[in-house]
Order: sequence, then structure tokens, then C-alpha cells
Amino acid sequence: MNSRSLPGLYGLDSLNLPKHIAIIMDGNGRWAEKRLMNRIKGHEAGSGAVRTIVRACREIGISVLTLYAFSTENWQRPKIEISALMVLLNKFLESEKNEMMENDIRLNAIGQVDKLPENVRKTLNRTMDLTGKNKGMLLNLALSYGGRTEIVDMVKIISQKVKDSKIDPDLITDEFVADHLYTAGMPYPDLLIRTSGEMRISNFLLWQIAYSEIFITDTLWPDFGKEELIKIIYDFQNRERRFGNVG
Ligand code: FPP
Repeated sequence: MNSRSLPGLYGLDSLNLPKHIAIIMDGNGRWAEKRLMNRIKGHEAGSGAVRTIVRACREIGISVLTLYAFSTENWQRPKIEISALMVLLNKFLESEKNEMMENDIRLNAIGQVDKLPENVRKTLNRTMDLTGKNKGMLLNLALSYGGRTEIVDMVKIISQKVKDSKIDPDLITDEFVADHLYTAGMPYPDLLIRTSGEMRISNFLLWQIAYSEIFITDTLWPDFGKEELIKIIYDFQNRERRFGNVG
């Protein structure tokens, strides 16, 4: 810690917390296979880890948590697995809404939410409305999300504005692009965590993670808990972020 640090919860420097943590939750299937269980059991256990990490981030004082819960590519999985994931998502939203209210957490979804089944969409909209005024933490669920699709959607919106002569192409800046992504108004992720050891980005937040610190752990998502999250944030606080500049 330096002279401008402030020892906070769990020995973390409260002046240097990541504002936005994004997580690729991977390894539910392997967690189940290792136990000779159906993959769906792995997703159930993964939902438990979601609860733990949402609570922990709120407690630590993280402003935005983005979880990659379902990608555009995940629609290619067997129908039975997709349905199970949708049921789990619905259950999670129903069971956590009171806790989100108690803990001042606002729920948001990024992705092609219109592709989700109607019942999930309704629960999602209800929960987003209910928690809409909460300010303690933003919980962003990436659902039917793909980074390339997000960029294509942004290009379409901006091109239409140019076509309608609403903007001059010379005025298109980094900030302007950011304001037309699903994450408009949010800080970029400071820290990107991926569980289960794969060294891939998997089409997640392609624009937003340009300068994120990346941490990949071998832990499978259902086994990922608060203690490891704190260790990763501690590691983050000891990294030097240069944003392309010199140290
Ligand atoms: C990756 O594991 C995980 C997913 C595709 C979905 C993530 C879903 C959850 C954590 C549970 C439900 C979500 C919420 C928000 C309650 P994988 O199946 O790709 O694992 P594998 O690579 O080991 O097969």
C-alpha cells in the first residue's frame, strides 16, 4: 500500500478497488463431469457461486459486476441444457429479488434479451423495474450476449444517425462509440476474471476490455468463492496499470 491507500475490508485498499469487475463463468460442465453428474447439476452449482459472488462484490464495494451468463453461441447447445439454464436464470431472478432490494443492487441485462423465452423476459423486466432505483451496485447479466453482435448493433445505430444527417462522421470518437454500446454509461471493466483455465475471451465485451487487467484461474466456476475473489482483487491492486504509457 502507498501513502494514498486506505486499508479497507479484508486488507484491500479501499481507494484502489476495481470499479467494474467482469467475469466469464466457465467450468460448470467440467465440475459436473468430474463428479459423474449431469452437466445441468454443474449449472445448478454455478448458480450458487453467482449468489456468493454477487454478495461478496456488494460487500467489498464494487460498483459494477458483469457476469457472462449466456452467450449468443450458447444457443447451439442441446435444447435440454438451454431450457435448464433458462429455468435456473428465472429461479435466480425470483429468489434473489428481495436480497437485491435489501442490498440496494440494481439489475440490468445486456445482450439480445428479446431472444430469451417470454417467461424469463417477463421476470427479467419485472426485476429490472423493481430494482431500477437502487444505487449500491449494478449487477449486469450478459444474456444472449455476443461482443461482435454488440459492435454490429452499435455500427447500425451510428450509421443510421449519419444517414439521417443527425451526426457528422468526424464527430465519432471513442466516447461516442462507447455511448452506443449495451454498456453505455458504465465504466469499462478494470478487472476481467475467467474461471476454469481457458485462455480465451470468447466474444465477451470486446471493445470494453481493451485495458482491463485479466486474471485467469484454474478453479471451476462452481468452486469459485469469496476468498479467491479477494485474492484476485489484491493481485489487481498490486499490478501497475499503464494504459499504454510508461511506468
Ligand atoms: C459455462 O460453463 C457456463 C455457462 C455457459 C453458463 C453460466 C451459467 C451459470 C453460472 C448458472 C446460471 C446463471 C445465473 C445468472 C443464475 P460450461 O457449461 O461451458 O462448462 P464447461 O466448459 O466445463 O463445459
